[in-house]
Amino acid sequence: MKLPPPKRKGTYSLEETIERRRSKRAYLPKRLSPEQISQLLWAAQGVFQRGRRTVPSAGGIYPLEIYLVTREGVSHYIPQNHELEETLHGDVLPQLVQAAAGQEFLREAPVNIIIAADDRAMEGRYGDRAERYICMEAGHAAQNIHLQAVSLGLGSAPIGAFDDQQVHSVLKLPDEHWPLYIIPVGYPAE
Ligand SMILES: Cc1cc2nc3c(=O)[nH]c(=O)nc-3n(C[C@H](O)[C@H](O)[C@H](O)COP(=O)(O)O)c2cc1C
Repeated sequence: MKLPPPKRKGTYSLEETIERRRSKRAYLPKRLSPEQISQLLWAAQGVFQRGRRTVPSAGGIYPLEIYLVTREGVSHYIPQNHELEETLHGDVLPQLVQAAAGQEFLREAPVNIIIAADDRAMEGRYGDRAERYICMEAGHAAQNIHLQAVSLGLGSAPIGAFDDQQVHSVLKLPDEHWPLYIIPVGYPAE
């Protein structure tokens, strides 16, 4: 599915956006628009200007892979074409909650963004430093998602408490894509 083009202007200044961010763990039962989803994915890993992306990457390797989980299924974000490719059809949110230490609010969120990584190219170039660099990059992408959510009037939470193997299996990710972060996003209910 081709996504609408991302916007370059927001509601708040960067400083206001930073100050407004708080982890939100309750969401209204309201879907996100394709425009909002487009903007969140662009913030996470969007491509512009000669292949550069919205987040920095050690050596310009870009090891992160972004997935979107909704009640309809799982989709993979293709940054080069700014599009989503469905990889799994069906509601896997109950199993995702189980894999994430029973954190029920993941199920309430209209979307959960998964930051995963393919570490092969990074390891080939940076050896023992690769794991550190990939975690640093996931932090950059995650913060962009949180701030973009605020700017869209939405709320999000960083989720690190989950079983990697279980999330990998529930989402049926390719062997080489390992989940690093789960970020539920929705209209905050609190
Ligand atoms: C690496 C990391 C992992 C986290 N994992 C979880 C989690 O699994 N569940 C959760 O509810 N919050 C999680 N949090 C959110 C923190 O609890 C939250 O950021 C902290 O309490 C500060 O609140 P604030 O984000 O509203 O400023 C995580 C935060 C970070 C940075």
